[in-house]
Amino acid sequence: MNVLVVLFVSAVVSSCSRLGSSAPRLLLVSFDGFRADYLETYNLPHLQELIEDGVLVKQVTNAFITKTFPNHYSIVTGLYEESHGIVANDMYDPDAKKKFSQFNDSDPFWWNEAVPIWVTNQQQRNGTSAAAMWPGTDVRINNTTPRFFMKYNFSVTFEERVEKIVKWLNSSDPVVNFATLYWEEPDVSGHKYGPADTENMRRVLKQVDQHIGFLTSKLKASGLWDSINVIITSDHGMAQCSPKKLIVLDNCIGRGNYTLIDRSPVAAVLPKHNKKYVYNLLKRCDDRHMKVYLKEEIPDRFHYRHNKRIQPIILIADEGWTIVQNEAPSKHAQVPETLQPQGFARCLDLYPQAVSSCVGDHGYDNTLPSMHPFLAARGPAFRRGYRQSMINNVDIYPMMCHILGLTPQPHNGTLSHTKCLLADQWCIHLPEAIGIVIGGLLVLTTFTCIVIIITKNRVASPRPFSRLQLQSDDDDPLIG
Ligand SMILES: *[C@@H]1O[C@H](CO)[C@@H](O)[C@H](O)[C@H]1NC(C)=O
Ligand SMILES: *[C@@H]1O[C@H](CO)[C@@H](O)[C@H](O)[C@H]1NC(C)=O
Ligand SMILES: *[C@@H]1O[C@H](CO)[C@@H](O)[C@H](O)[C@H]1NC(C)=O
Ligand SMILES: *[C@@H]1O[C@H](CO)[C@@H](O)[C@H](O)[C@H]1NC(C)=O
Ligand SMILES: *[C@@H]1O[C@H](CO)[C@@H](O)[C@H](O)[C@H]1NC(C)=O
Ligand SMILES: *[C@@H]1O[C@H](CO)[C@@H](O)[C@H](O)[C@H]1NC(C)=O
Ligand SMILES: *[C@@H]1O[C@H](CO)[C@@H](O)[C@H](O)[C@H]1NC(C)=O
Ligand SMILES: [Zn+2]
Repeated sequence: MNVLVVLFVSAVVSSCSRLGSSAPRLLLVSFDGFRADYLETYNLPHLQELIEDGVLVKQVTNAFITKTFPNHYSIVTGLYEESHGIVANDMYDPDAKKKFSQFNDSDPFWWNEAVPIWVTNQQQRNGTSAAAMWPGTDVRINNTTPRFFMKYNFSVTFEERVEKIVKWLNSSDPVVNFATLYWEEPDVSGHKYGPADTENMRRVLKQVDQHIGFLTSKLKASGLWDSINVIITSDHGMAQCSPKKLIVLDNCIGRGNYTLIDRSPVAAVLPKHNKKYVYNLLKRCDDRHMKVYLKEEIPDRFHYRHNKRIQPIILIADEGWTIVQNEAPSKHAQVPETLQPQGFARCLDLYPQAVSSCVGDHGYDNTLPSMHPFLAARGPAFRRGYRQSMINNVDIYPMMCHILGLTPQPHNGTLSHTKCLLADQWCIHLPEAIGIVIGGLLVLTTFTCIVIIITKNRVASPRPFSRLQLQSDDDDPLIG
């Protein structure tokens, strides 16, 4: 009875304290293009240390198309791309006749089909959000930006971003309870070298790991480490490409027939006149290395159909293949170092002629393991030392809302997929459940057996007496 009272009181106290100054806090970090298996290929001591003390999801199934802007928005809205409206890094809206690109992304029109968690955090619970970059955080979505944010600028170093976000998190008035941090690597180098170049990628991943070490040391120095929840994840992986694996559209269709809204590896084609004619020409182009879909034929599993910003024809290159309009004028075309695409880098979009300098890419089918990122998390909301094989990236949103005590907007994720990661959730897997049932049956059987044996012994109990009596009978003649 006393135990129950104590449990009840502590439950009430802990749920009340959520509203006070010890409200749960969450820092969401993305290292762009961090492919899931980099964790197995490279030595990442700082990240591993965080995982030992928290949880790891080895593969995160991201949203199709596996590009930067769409997936960063899926993580913070829990919606598939067709439902949040950021369906590519380059888009065209046929009704508004507007264009979107990653370098001209600040028109709220594009973002307003969904409401990201940093907005809900401020509107629903009077929380305070802060952002050291993340696609969309410098845009007035539903007329709201994070209370503190930085304008996107790839020249700002990782250290400067961390100093800013930790300063905001360390202020007590107002208490920042949700924050984001974004870094361009290892994506930029993944495009430049390709994931197969383990020599260069090892160097880059070592830097990324040092960045994680810098972040944790700053959080420790400011006394935040014990109370803050940190999620480290990414938007997509990276596939090895090759200048030999090109699908050349000019070989099959004249450019006057269509407008190319988005390029490789998922090309968005807006036909100029006859859709069926354009489709048939494309369909015959290279059916061994590319799938061609009319919008209404796009497979259900992609959840990539119901939005006007998805163009009438979609081409999906097979892993490692690149869709271009013409072949590179020179296989040795080099992008000058100063012009190398940084930020949300995509060589081929910026320099479609410079195929030879772009050997890694992403955007492909989201069932490919090479496209998957990982998720690591640590803090009071998370279990310690737990590993799980996979979740979907749309599951991250309901998990974050749960941690912050927010009522989520309608979304496509499932909270129960992440319940084993969370310290306050019951987590029983099927094998464990079967184990528990079998274990229970064993205990019950053993108990029953013992009871039966004891009962039998009770019934048989006169025997020792009879033996004693017999012995005493035996003794009798000697005494007598
Ligand atoms: C950015 O997009 C807006 C419309 O959305 C357009 O008016 C403007 O010219 C574009 N700016 C650049 C630099 O492309
Ligand atoms: C958008 O913002 C308004 C207040 O500015 C708020 O009432 C409304 O709930 C928000 N919409 C969503 C979907 O959160
Ligand atoms: C971006 O950041 C760099 C380095 O801090 C700074 O020199 C530059 O002026 C910034 N650019 C813009 C457009 O703010
Ligand atoms: C919301 O928080 C701000 C400070 O962060 C405070 O000034 C304001 O009074 C709060 N509003 C409500 C309705 O709690
Ligand atoms: C964080 O705040 C605490 C107390 O409010 C202070 O002692 C500490 O120096 C601050 N740390 C940083 C990195 O600003
Ligand atoms: C459309 O493509 C076909 C096949 O390449 C070509 O013959 C025709 O000239 C093109 N039409 C236009 C308007 O470019
Ligand atoms: C995803 O969620 C949105 C919002 O609830 C909903 O409209 C849409 O139908 C969902 N998509 C799927 C495939 O369930
Ligand atoms: Zn990316």
